[in-house]
Amino acid sequence: MSPYRLSRTLPADATAAALRADVSHGLTCSPKQLPPKWFYDARGSELFERITELPEYYPTRAEREILIERASEIASLTRARTLVELGSGSSAKTRHLIEALLPELAVYVPVDVSESALDQAGNALVVEHPGLAVHALVADFQAGLALPETPGPRLVAFLGGTIGNLLPEERAVFHASVAELLSPGDALLLGTDLVKDEATLVAAYDDAQGVTAAFNKNVLSVLNRELGADFDPADFDHVALWDSEHEWIEMRLRARTELTAKIPALDLAVHFAAGEELRTEVSAKFRWERVRAELAAAELDLRQWWTDSAGRFALSLAVRL
Ligand code: SAH
Ligand code: TRP
Repeated sequence: MSPYRLSRTLPADATAAALRADVSHGLTCSPKQLPPKWFYDARGSELFERITELPEYYPTRAEREILIERASEIASLTRARTLVELGSGSSAKTRHLIEALLPELAVYVPVDVSESALDQAGNALVVEHPGLAVHALVADFQAGLALPETPGPRLVAFLGGTIGNLLPEERAVFHASVAELLSPGDALLLGTDLVKDEATLVAAYDDAQGVTAAFNKNVLSVLNRELGADFDPADFDHVALWDSEHEWIEMRLRARTELTAKIPALDLAVHFAAGEELRTEVSAKFRWERVRAELAAAELDLRQWWTDSAGRFALSLAVRL
């Protein structure tokens, strides 16, 4: 048997149905909005990888610094035999963790909506680590996860600050569902970007080369391809702004002129006034108090809080009580 396997928890048409439901709701409500998971088709995943290398996008480098410094400590604290990673993408930073957890680590379970990202990462990993079984799962981590039977202790990693892309109520549901995947003593490793000065935050989501703008607009190409829509990405401007009340970055697409987009698969025509904005993502920034409280509400006890040397990003290790 190949050490790399990929399973789908949902049939492909369930994804299509979820996209239709999200788009017909999100583009007919006011203000208009779309959930961020639809960014990540093959091109979206590639663009995100380019974002992680941008000079302005510090979170990836900051989190990698912490992982490199703390990997062996995480290994000795958790002794994990199964590593589950939610929203694993390229699994690039995770390699530091995997190498520290080996040879005890038996199975790595990357979970992502992007099948192309899972295939690339999984195939490379089994070549690098012949002793490791990789069981990839194409699944929505917000839709209730059914994990394969694997040996404990289990460590669930949720890196990249992706937790910040969920709204507060969604985070509560998410933490509760993660806690359900864990037995007492199992652990969650959570990456959170931290509140900092506005200029640094906004630049990370509005880079000079325009890669983030292209990533944001890619969601329109997904609607064109999957639903036959006729959006012209050039009709929209990329907007990133800091909401100091909610302490989150908000990503939007702003219509440059009045326009109407047709979405034949939904039998829908969507009108935008000139300057009207579509919210495509939030990226919440955290402080220690909020992380501790949100975890505690799900019976997850924050045991370690590590930051990079510049104090930009935090990695938390929490244990299921
Ligand atoms: N963990 C990586 C990637 C972060 S980007 C890193 O730290 O660099 C966010 C990742 O989560 C993408 O790979 C995206 O495809 C995935 N993702 C976003 N929403 C998701 C969802 N609802 N369910 C599963 N995966 C999701
Ligand atoms: N999880 C990443 C973050 O919030 C996702 C991300 C980075 C992103 N840059 C983006 C999403 C730009 C949309 C647009 O940092």
